[in-house]
Amino acid sequence: MITIRAAVQRTAGTATKIEDVAVAEPRAGEVRVRMLASGVCHSDLHVRDGDWPRPTPIAMGHEGAGVVEAVGPGVRSLSIGQLVALSWLVPCGVCRACLAGQPWACPDSPSFRHGMPDGATVLADSEGGAVLSYCGIGTMAEATVVPESAAIALPDGVDPAVAALIGCCVTTGVGAVLKTAQVPAGAGVAVIGLGGVGLSCVMGAVLAGAGPIVAVDRVAAKLDVARDLGATDAVLATDDRRATIQALHDLTDGGPDFVFEAIGQPATVEMAIEALPLGGTAVLVGMTPVEARASFAVYPFVDGSRRILGSNYGFADPPIDFPRYAALNLAGRLPVERLIDRRIGLDDLEAAFDRLRAGDGLRQVVVFD
Ligand SMILES: NC(=O)c1ccc[n+]([C@@H]2O[C@H](COP(=O)([O-])OP(=O)(O)OC[C@H]3O[C@@H](n4cnc5c(N)ncnc54)[C@H](O)[C@@H]3O)[C@@H](O)[C@H]2O)c1
Ligand SMILES: [Zn+2]
Ligand SMILES: [Zn+2]
Repeated sequence: MITIRAAVQRTAGTATKIEDVAVAEPRAGEVRVRMLASGVCHSDLHVRDGDWPRPTPIAMGHEGAGVVEAVGPGVRSLSIGQLVALSWLVPCGVCRACLAGQPWACPDSPSFRHGMPDGATVLADSEGGAVLSYCGIGTMAEATVVPESAAIALPDGVDPAVAALIGCCVTTGVGAVLKTAQVPAGAGVAVIGLGGVGLSCVMGAVLAGAGPIVAVDRVAAKLDVARDLGATDAVLATDDRRATIQALHDLTDGGPDFVFEAIGQPATVEMAIEALPLGGTAVLVGMTPVEARASFAVYPFVDGSRRILGSNYGFADPPIDFPRYAALNLAGRLPVERLIDRRIGLDDLEAAFDRLRAGDGLRQVVVFD
């Protein structure tokens, strides 16, 4: 057992506290990972703010990378010293989605119970009380224990902060374009919301050879980053939804073939659907508070053969996709570094959540010494 510092949420809507916690030794099929980096994703903020009810106390973070530090009996795919990115969805392997080869749709993943597959917890607070690990990986901690299948080895030379982002926003955004939507070369694309997820959709659209690629955000500085990544056009969104839709139509000859919503607000979900041309596809990537609903005009939707796709985790098969995205990064074709504008310490987490809530800045990454 070792003792480390971790960001623990005790009550939703209150500050995430940095606590000393004990980490159990890895058992059969488990590995201990010394964390190097953990991105601050809006999904963590949804949990922090209580948009998504989750059991507590829970060690936060689900977008992380580190180095394998200890392995339990029977671990075959990993060895000590290897760089790994952690997957926040370990498929159950036996449900209908898993059997159909769609692990991203697994409804019964042990990751959703925020512990090990057998229900065990690996963290304990200073009084010996069990602390859950968000999505079974709780990456905002100096070290953690995860199932072998949650730790995906990456090639040497990948920046650990980049590896962390491959664990969530990169896989979610790039995969939404390449895997969920299978955007063909030359298709018109719009991306609404340019956080880590939306900018990854932009990078995915560039990889797909799409064009035009129109980036939309209400923060002007994010439009510049999207252009830098390869977006051909940008629209500064205001509260005037019609004006944004008109701008999208003007830039894409009547509407983008694919609109990616990467925010998770009913108003922007509705805007994504409304902006579609005949035959167009809205891809919903952003996640709303659990109870939120959106509506759309059914007649023109059906009459115009439009489509809506939901995309969880970029339809990821992490053991296949993480190394691919890492290789693209090393080849200079997936410039994930440009999504990162602040490397912070664990103690800066609450300030990081404030900035994320305000839409201020790009991806923030907690780095561990
Ligand atoms: N589908 C999945 O598997 C999956 C995975 C990870 C994250 N997510 C979700 O994706 C969403 C985005 O995550 P993120 O970490 O990139 O968030 P983020 O907060 O970094 O980015 C959101 C962006 O949207 C912009 N924005 C907010 N309101 C806007 C509006 N009305 N019009 C235009 N732009 C607006 C913000 O300025 C910001 O740039 C979150 O809901 C998150 O929970 C989904
Ligand atoms: Zn995430
Ligand atoms: Zn399953």
